[in-house]
Amino acid sequence: MENDNIRIGECEEGDISEIIAIEGDSFPSPWSENIFRGEMKNPIARILVCRDQRLAGKTVAGYVVYWQVADEMQLHNIAVRKDQRKKRVASLLLREAIRASQLEGARSVTLEVRRSNLPAQNLYEKFGFLVKGVRPGYYSDMGEDALIFWADLDRIGPEREHAREPAKNRQARNDDHD
Ligand SMILES: CC(C)(COP(=O)(O)OP(=O)(O)OC[C@H]1O[C@@H](n2cnc3c(N)ncnc32)[C@H](O)[C@@H]1OP(=O)(O)O)[C@@H](O)C(=O)NCCC(=O)NCCS
Repeated sequence: MENDNIRIGECEEGDISEIIAIEGDSFPSPWSENIFRGEMKNPIARILVCRDQRLAGKTVAGYVVYWQVADEMQLHNIAVRKDQRKKRVASLLLREAIRASQLEGARSVTLEVRRSNLPAQNLYEKFGFLVKGVRPGYYSDMGEDALIFWADLDRIGPEREHAREPAKNRQARNDDHD
């Protein structure tokens, strides 16, 4: 996946229209253009974009949005263009976002994910995230629960072996947390 055609960089004005298209294709309640523009101005927000020069006419393969809140990285959005999924674009983005956030002092990372979103849960689990709780009915569009994923950045690493944790996590995904 990592080669001369692929670059991770900061979001620029010219990326917005492609990001909005990917966003609309990826979520039941996509962020609006105004939300993305607000995040571009938000001093604690960071938006990284994966650009692939081989994508004819377009270049954005995926993006990640996180907030740098003191020593915590809060992951708010990650999505990959439909025809570029399962090629490790999200893994690359997440790895780079974690690295950049650590350089700014992050020691842990947290995010929320829909209970039904197994591809995303598998991705986070691969990076060593653990399920720490549930926000019942958090997503108002469908009343779906959010699972709270969390990781200690001092001990996780992308693509590391987390042999025992997936089993524990699967249990936690299905358990009811108060
Ligand atoms: C979730 C998402 C970002 C993954 O992007 P991706 O570039 O396809 O992910 P990667 O290729 O880096 O995959 C890494 C791991 O994620 C998991 N994964 C990714 N897609 C999966 C799928 N369709 N089914 C099951 N697991 C999947 C796998 O564990 C995979 O590792 P493997 O390839 O060794 O099996 C992408 O499917 C997407 O954009 N979905 C819509 C938006 C979304 O749900 N964002 C997350 C919000 S919390």
